[in-house]
Amino acid sequence: MAASPSFHRLLALLATLLCAATTVASSKRITLPGFYGAVNTTGFGRTYTKVCDADRFAELGLDMPAFPYCNASLPYADRVRDLIGWMTVEEKVGNLGDWSRGAPRVGLPPYKWWSEALHGISSTGPTTLFDALTSKPGNHSGRAAVYNATVFANVINSAASFNETLWNAIGQAVSTEARAMFNLGKGGLTYWSPNINVVRDPRWGRALETPGEDPYVVGRYAVNFVRGMQDIPGHETAADPFARPIKTSACCKHYAAYDVDDWHNHTRFTFDARVAERDMAETFLRPFEMCVRDGDASAVMCSYNRVNGVPACADHRLLSGTLRRDWELHGYIVSDCDAVLVMADNATWLNFTAAEAGAAALRAGLDLDCGESWIEKKKGQPLMDYLSTYGMEAVAQGKMREADIDGALANQFMTLMRLGYFDGIPRYAGLNETDICSDEHKELAADGARQAIVLLKNHDNLLPLDPKKVRAVAVHGPHAHAPEKVMDGDYTGPPCRYVTPRQGISKDVKISHKAKWTIYFGGINLHIEREGNDREDLLLPKNQTEQILHFAAASPNPIVLVLFSGGGIDITSLHNNPKIGAILWAGYPGGEGGHAIADVIFGRHNPGGRLPLTWFKNKYISQLPMTSMSFRPVPKLGYPGRTYKFYDGPDVLYPFGYGLSYTKFHYSTTTNGTVVTVPTGGRHCKALTYKPSTAAATAAARPACPAVDVAGHTCAETVSFNVSVTNAGAKDGAHVVLVYTVPPPEVDEAPIKQVAAFKRVYVPAGSAVAVPFTLNVCKAFGIVERTAYTVVPSGVSRVLVENGDSSVSFPVKIEFSV
Ligand SMILES: *[C@@H]1O[C@H](CO)[C@@H](O)[C@H](O)[C@H]1NC(C)=O
Ligand SMILES: *[C@@H]1O[C@H](CO)[C@@H](O)[C@H](O)[C@H]1NC(C)=O
Ligand SMILES: *[C@@H]1O[C@H](CO)[C@@H](O)[C@H](O)[C@H]1NC(C)=O
Ligand SMILES: *[C@@H]1O[C@H](CO)[C@@H](O)[C@H](O)[C@H]1NC(C)=O
Ligand SMILES: *[C@@H]1O[C@H](CO)[C@@H](O)[C@H](O)[C@H]1NC(C)=O
Ligand SMILES: *[C@@H]1O[C@H](CO)[C@@H](O)[C@H](O)[C@H]1NC(C)=O
Ligand SMILES: *[C@@H]1O[C@H](CO)[C@@H](O)[C@H](O)[C@H]1NC(C)=O
Ligand SMILES: *[C@@H]1O[C@H](CO)[C@@H](O)[C@H](O)[C@H]1NC(C)=O
Ligand SMILES: *[C@@H]1O[C@H](CO)[C@@H](O)[C@H](O)[C@H]1NC(C)=O
Ligand SMILES: *[C@@H]1O[C@H](CO)[C@@H](O)[C@H](O)[C@H]1NC(C)=O
Ligand SMILES: *[C@@H]1O[C@H](CO)[C@@H](O)[C@H](O)[C@H]1NC(C)=O
Ligand SMILES: *[C@@H]1O[C@H](CO)[C@@H](O)[C@H](O)[C@H]1NC(C)=O
Repeated sequence: MAASPSFHRLLALLATLLCAATTVASSKRITLPGFYGAVNTTGFGRTYTKVCDADRFAELGLDMPAFPYCNASLPYADRVRDLIGWMTVEEKVGNLGDWSRGAPRVGLPPYKWWSEALHGISSTGPTTLFDALTSKPGNHSGRAAVYNATVFANVINSAASFNETLWNAIGQAVSTEARAMFNLGKGGLTYWSPNINVVRDPRWGRALETPGEDPYVVGRYAVNFVRGMQDIPGHETAADPFARPIKTSACCKHYAAYDVDDWHNHTRFTFDARVAERDMAETFLRPFEMCVRDGDASAVMCSYNRVNGVPACADHRLLSGTLRRDWELHGYIVSDCDAVLVMADNATWLNFTAAEAGAAALRAGLDLDCGESWIEKKKGQPLMDYLSTYGMEAVAQGKMREADIDGALANQFMTLMRLGYFDGIPRYAGLNETDICSDEHKELAADGARQAIVLLKNHDNLLPLDPKKVRAVAVHGPHAHAPEKVMDGDYTGPPCRYVTPRQGISKDVKISHKAKWTIYFGGINLHIEREGNDREDLLLPKNQTEQILHFAAASPNPIVLVLFSGGGIDITSLHNNPKIGAILWAGYPGGEGGHAIADVIFGRHNPGGRLPLTWFKNKYISQLPMTSMSFRPVPKLGYPGRTYKFYDGPDVLYPFGYGLSYTKFHYSTTTNGTVVTVPTGGRHCKALTYKPSTAAATAAARPACPAVDVAGHTCAETVSFNVSVTNAGAKDGAHVVLVYTVPPPEVDEAPIKQVAAFKRVYVPAGSAVAVPFTLNVCKAFGIVERTAYTVVPSGVSRVLVENGDSSVSFPVKIEFSV
């Protein structure tokens, strides 16, 4: 490495000396507060929860009124400028990393940026501090002990509920617990969640962390979760969005085209995703655009991988162009942890040194470097990021502009201002330990887990089991006693309560090896799919399949199989086996999972979850490498298309959106089609690629204006319709209505279909509900051309609502008028 630990020690010493030497307003000596200690998460002592506290300043020997950045009657932007104006360049550089040093000389405490809350407050990262169960209550940091927090089902589960209200409610509950942790000195305000990368390949190890394979559904998840985390009632919008107050800060990650972790020696650190502009616009960027534009996320994390040769965290076009200029991000951009390090590591990118890589990232638009710095850790050095370690070297070499540093700090400090870090937010000041793991939150976690469970098979209505008739069941399988690690999945803290599947069902029936009924709890776990580890195949472990077949054969009645996993599993042979009567997918359902599973098995809850990603047969993956980024088939190489949008071949076990119920739902609609005329004024016309065999492909038949560019055009036209959902069975239940649009058949390389809207509704047995939809023509019928323009094609598109046996569909003819 170019710079050594001794350089780094020198820097720390220098900073200390500077701080001591140049104290403003007082001669009292100030030492850096325990930056390397892991005690006070936010950097405050025990009595302070905001920066601008006059007593705090007085303790530092400073006079608060001398610092306009603490003047609450000034605009945030002016205060931020003032704060940066006090800081030396060394102090500024010390604030470029996630474990920022602050500038105690001028009253700014250190702050740890890195917190995670993927599906509840997580202990990942250096910031969140849960007390060990062995520690005595009331004695940690002089504040109440907090041993655990609400662990919601994993995101792939929540996605399966297709319930936007739930997604928002989870964000609200998590942010309430987060503010309580902050008040108790045990947590930060900036959370690097959600993970909204689209699941492009079924082998991806992080599918469990994500909302699945459809970019629109993923984007809606992002919007709802982010708004739940961030929005303060009454402040959902603001005249100046850069100064809109927020409850906690959420962060959409990992930007962009990241979804290879470690596959056949391709690791995420050096993988160069070769991506067509069309796939970028249509899939990889779309959830991020929705997260930023519709969710108004206050942070985005760039990913390790390269995109067409350039590391994502040093890509000026992606960061400064698309994210900040085009989508108007109101917030900060953070690197994935050590992404700057891996750019310089082994000189793999342009032979850049650490200082050069950091400078390039900052110049491209990065505002904060998260560093785990494994190398430093190994040498027994404190955790450090690259930007604050090598920043001064870059400045000294004339490779880094102080103005770029100022810009990064402005984005950081604005976010902290909005969070009340400087002034506090009175309405959240009273949150405390009683707001963590409240009954309300535990019930929401249980409800979320229930809503997510997907019924994959139910031959002869084996489920629900009637506990009065069944009385006793035999319970088998590796996940019957599923430890927290399995149930809680990834990025989690300790749960408030923890109910295993066996405990859950033992409340209803006796568990006995002689029993005539068998429930097998199987599936995979984080050894097989996790961050940093992609899957080799889509199968169950071989001995598990053998064991399931053994119990199925031995059981007098068909058995119930409950599967745990994030990604899909090829269980074709089990699905086809008549002795396996029912199959449930439970995902990784969190601390309340055991109860949720029992509620479904014994019929207290009618399963309404639907798969948020395609479950492929294992054969599918042998046809293409994980590193092929294209969504459309690549005929030259024999690669099939990816996701339900571009693959409808034979190697699908359960399609996207699949999920059964204990009742039957039927659709009807009174709409039999409509014609929409979009006025264009003769502008914004774009070419459309037609299938060669179609009439439209001939010049004579081609419309004068084949398609209209969506971005250039205000499109107010809508298509409104009701889908009437009838519950024709005997059980009440929730049902997810998935509305797809299908592009005109003559358009070449278009998606087979795409989700345009969805709604989860509750329908009592024997009744019908009308579910209204209004589709914006440009948003719902838009497709992405090879030129990467999103266009609305002229011609006859279709609206399609389908679910197993029942479907309705009607044509929508789109014309353009001058
Ligand atoms: C805070 O700013 C306002 C508006 O500029 C000013 O009137 C006031 O005097 C300032 N307060 C202090 C303590 O400087
Ligand atoms: C907390 O610590 C103090 C001092 O070490 C001790 O006297 C007290 O008993 C402890 N309280 C609890 C609840 O353990
Ligand atoms: C952290 O809090 C403890 C009390 O809980 C206090 O003694 C210590 O000084 C604080 N450290 C910093 C760096 O503020
Ligand atoms: C990964 O690289 C190692 C060492 O070069 C090699 O032995 C191994 O076969 C490779 N694995 C795969 C799946 O390509
Ligand atoms: C750099 O090389 C070391 C040693 O070969 C290796 O462990 C590390 O993964 C490499 N880093 C990257 C980013 O490839
Ligand atoms: C990187 O440096 C090595 C050794 O000095 C040199 O062989 C190589 O050509 C350089 N690569 C680039 C891209 O400059
Ligand atoms: C925590 O908050 C609740 C509800 O506001 C309040 O009743 C309780 O007194 C608070 N507990 C402590 C220790 O401050
Ligand atoms: C969670 O913490 C509470 C105390 O707040 C404790 O009673 C409970 O046992 C903990 N739960 C688990 C699963 O450890
Ligand atoms: C299958 O084999 C693995 C590895 O030997 C073992 O850990 C696991 O418990 C076995 N599973 C079953 C269901 O027998
Ligand atoms: C649509 O329905 C209306 C009334 O139900 C009917 O008059 C009309 O012919 C139908 N149009 C088409 C194209 O089927
Ligand atoms: C949908 O149903 C509602 C209530 O039944 C009705 O008011 C509305 O007009 C219907 N909308 C359409 C487009 O048919
Ligand atoms: C959606 O989730 C919310 C929050 O948990 C719940 O109250 C509601 O019943 C759910 N909707 C349906 C139709 O299941």
